Amino acid sequence: MKKIRLFTPGPCAVPEEVLVEMARPFEHHRTPWFKDLMGQCQEKLKQVLQTGNEVVIITGSGTAVAEGAIIGCNPPGSKMLTIEGGKFGQRWGEIAQQFGIDVVRHEIEWGTPPTAEMVAEHLKSDPAITTVMVVHSETSTATACDLEAIGKVCRDAGTLLIADCITSAGALPLRPDEWGVDVAITGAQKALMIPPGLGFASVSPRAWQIIENNKDQHSYYLSYIKAYKKGLGHDTPFTPAHVLIRGLNKALDILLEEGMENVWRRVAAMAEATRKAGEAIGLKVFSRRPSDSVTALCCPEGLAVADIRAGLKERFGIQSAGGQEHLKGKIFRIGHMGYIDEMDTVLVIAALEQVLHKLGHKFELGAGVSAAQRVFAERMR
Ligand SMILES: Cc1ncc(COP(=O)(O)O)c(C=O)c1O
Repeated sequence: MKKIRLFTPGPCAVPEEVLVEMARPFEHHRTPWFKDLMGQCQEKLKQVLQTGNEVVIITGSGTAVAEGAIIGCNPPGSKMLTIEGGKFGQRWGEIAQQFGIDVVRHEIEWGTPPTAEMVAEHLKSDPAITTVMVVHSETSTATACDLEAIGKVCRDAGTLLIADCITSAGALPLRPDEWGVDVAITGAQKALMIPPGLGFASVSPRAWQIIENNKDQHSYYLSYIKAYKKGLGHDTPFTPAHVLIRGLNKALDILLEEGMENVWRRVAAMAEATRKAGEAIGLKVFSRRPSDSVTALCCPEGLAVADIRAGLKERFGIQSAGGQEHLKGKIFRIGHMGYIDEMDTVLVIAALEQVLHKLGHKFELGAGVSAAQRVFAERMR
């Protein structure tokens, strides 16, 4: 018997109720049935994303929605700053370059976060910068930044802020309106607990003004204006992934029933338990400012990441993620997003202990589970 146990930082495990919902017979999408579904999702998304702003829904993965934001928010004459501390930060700089946007790409050491000071320094020395883009939770390095502080700097300077919240929304505390995040982007297959294929963005009035006045947007399908206008009538400009929208409606119900504060608390506890467990069994946490939605653990000396991940998969059906680019072979990552609870986290730690023990890593068997249990006992009373 082999269960599928998805601990990757996306796609993430989907609740059975959502899977069942998506398996039910469906209607055509230009119908009152779909509009009702879409309207419900639009409202619930605002609650989950903690925003009063309009949320656009685009068929495509998170990258599609980010590309739409980069194109829409940078009319001719704009200058964008990206702070790049991992694979996804890099992607946003590459997209801007590909579209001929004047972009300042500030590379930072992987595993460190973009900071408010970095942004402030750029805005001070280069007043031509009109847009800043950062990654709230950089999945490739499992690192989170202080988005609230960055938001304050951008708001004070009158600069537009786009945040990649793809692995923070629905997992980490996020308050785009309060923090001054003009465009907060996320995707379906992470903490929102549905399969890949949808992307979302909350858009502030300030960002809308820029997007609407931008007559030079070289994108048809990823136009926020088209998505927004149709969205007003609970509709979509193109054929929607309506089965996913239906799954989304159920997944949002599940999140809202738990309550966002409780979701954040659970995810934070699962992340801390994993970090403490890792340390208790001799695995260093990679990031200098760890994200709570995913944990990156360093491979112990003398072992291979490939063997650890294969052991988890072959013996226990657990799917984890490796490192990307120069971190390949150095770290492996365990996600805390999606349909995962405290006991799933205890399970993955127990399995990791079994695998490491078999590979000859020296540690006290049970020390990781014990450390995790203590975290849950303390934080989830
Ligand atoms: C932080 C972050 N940004 C962007 C992306 C890209 O999103 P997608 O794969 O949905 O296009 C990912 C996906 O893992 C991510 O984790």
